[in-house]
Amino acid sequence: MTNTTTAASDLSLSKFNASAFTTARLMREDPLALFRRVQRENGDYVVTVALPGLRTIIVSDPDMVHEILVRRSDEFVKPELGKKMLQSAFGNGIFFSEGDFWKRQRKLAQPAFHHMRIGKYATDMVAHTQKQLQSWANQKSILIDKETHALTLKIVVDALFKTDVTEHVELIGKSMHALSTAVGDQSKSIVQAQLPNWLPTSINRRKKLAADQMNPLIRQMIADRRASAEDRGDLLSMFLQVQDADTGERMSDQQVRDELMTMFIAGHETSALALAWSLVELARHPEVEAKLHAEIDSVLGDRAATLDDLPKLTYTQAVIKEILRFYPPAPFLTRSPAQPMLFHGGQLRTSDLLMVLAYTIHHDARWYADSESFIPERWLDGELEKRLPKCAYLPFGTGPRVCIGNGFAQMEMALVLATIAQHYKLRFPNGIDKVEVMLNLTLSMKPPVEMELIQR
Ligand code: HEM
Repeated sequence: MTNTTTAASDLSLSKFNASAFTTARLMREDPLALFRRVQRENGDYVVTVALPGLRTIIVSDPDMVHEILVRRSDEFVKPELGKKMLQSAFGNGIFFSEGDFWKRQRKLAQPAFHHMRIGKYATDMVAHTQKQLQSWANQKSILIDKETHALTLKIVVDALFKTDVTEHVELIGKSMHALSTAVGDQSKSIVQAQLPNWLPTSINRRKKLAADQMNPLIRQMIADRRASAEDRGDLLSMFLQVQDADTGERMSDQQVRDELMTMFIAGHETSALALAWSLVELARHPEVEAKLHAEIDSVLGDRAATLDDLPKLTYTQAVIKEILRFYPPAPFLTRSPAQPMLFHGGQLRTSDLLMVLAYTIHHDARWYADSESFIPERWLDGELEKRLPKCAYLPFGTGPRVCIGNGFAQMEMALVLATIAQHYKLRFPNGIDKVEVMLNLTLSMKPPVEMELIQR
């Protein structure tokens, strides 16, 4: 069996001492364990891991992460592999586009995420949550990941596209789940990940089917809005109205589709996971739950949460910060060099895949005391944030490609969690906690995750 050292011979830095095939197997079976092992055995500097046909460079050093995502961000691009795997969903939307085109699209979308604007979404976020809670009234238990996905989807589509997708939530939820598990399976099998999209492999067929189910819905949203010619002042109207300053051209339907689908997916999957993990951790930590309830009872009492309550919901926000540390919904970010380059004494190729491991950084005892314990209190006095090295906390990424929905998501998670906890406690069925972490491209849980509802 060949050793990785030969594959990575031109990179003079640390190499993970396992064969390409063993690494591929570990990646498939338990990628989080692989990442931890790489860091344990090789440290957190650049570590090359050879997978069949793909040289992967693992980075768990905060300063080097800062170099890649901030200081030298214009020397790195989103990897072709990721673009290809998610092509059917994201297309050339803002998540994967590059250069001047990305800059234009980001500038165009930015006003929808301005803090003045997102403040206006708060009331609807709470109203959507209350409506969801009403549907729980006659139920003993719920599938939490399903519920949080449905809720965050309705919130983001209503906020950004002023469209009610309630009646399509089931279909969208199923398609999204099918898409993310297909992409997850593909990302764990590096051989599969490198096959062309047109090959009718089972994974490619599953991805195409999922996108085919979603596309008519999105195209209909675009067609309806074009037909009405109404300016609703939302992101969809902005996309439809914008004209290129030089050519006067408008965005094509395909481009609008790509941007909408990107926002649909990026705008709900991650917040849904963070909320689902919050509910699990509250059930695991009654002492945290009691403090959360005390805060919510004293700040809100029986009334609905509003934007003005957020500064007072400090413990609620600490719970969310700790969830995003412990279970970063985007556990790794990927980049490739735009051009061949020298990086810390090694030669990087444009085909190299750099994986920035937010997950291992967030679990590193050098930055977080008692790093494997869930302790929201660590965030309360603001001292930890001052002490942390840059890029030791990066649930939303950083640099120019930082999450555009960062503020939106933080507000949404605090309001939704406060509203759920105001009315319900959730418990594991028969007290048995079987929730397990699952890594697709996001850090999710092995479904189904059923929890019992206890009305407060
Ligand atoms: C807990 C919730 C969320 C988390 C943890 C999260 C995480 C991230 C991360 C880590 C990135 C950077 C990816 C990279 O650098 O490769 C990102 C980018 C992005 N996120 Fe989020 N996100 C969240 C919520 C949202 C929401 C609510 C929206 C939209 C409403 C959104 C839209 C986007 C978009 C469009 C990008 C691409 C930005 C660009 O490349 O210019 N995200 N997100």
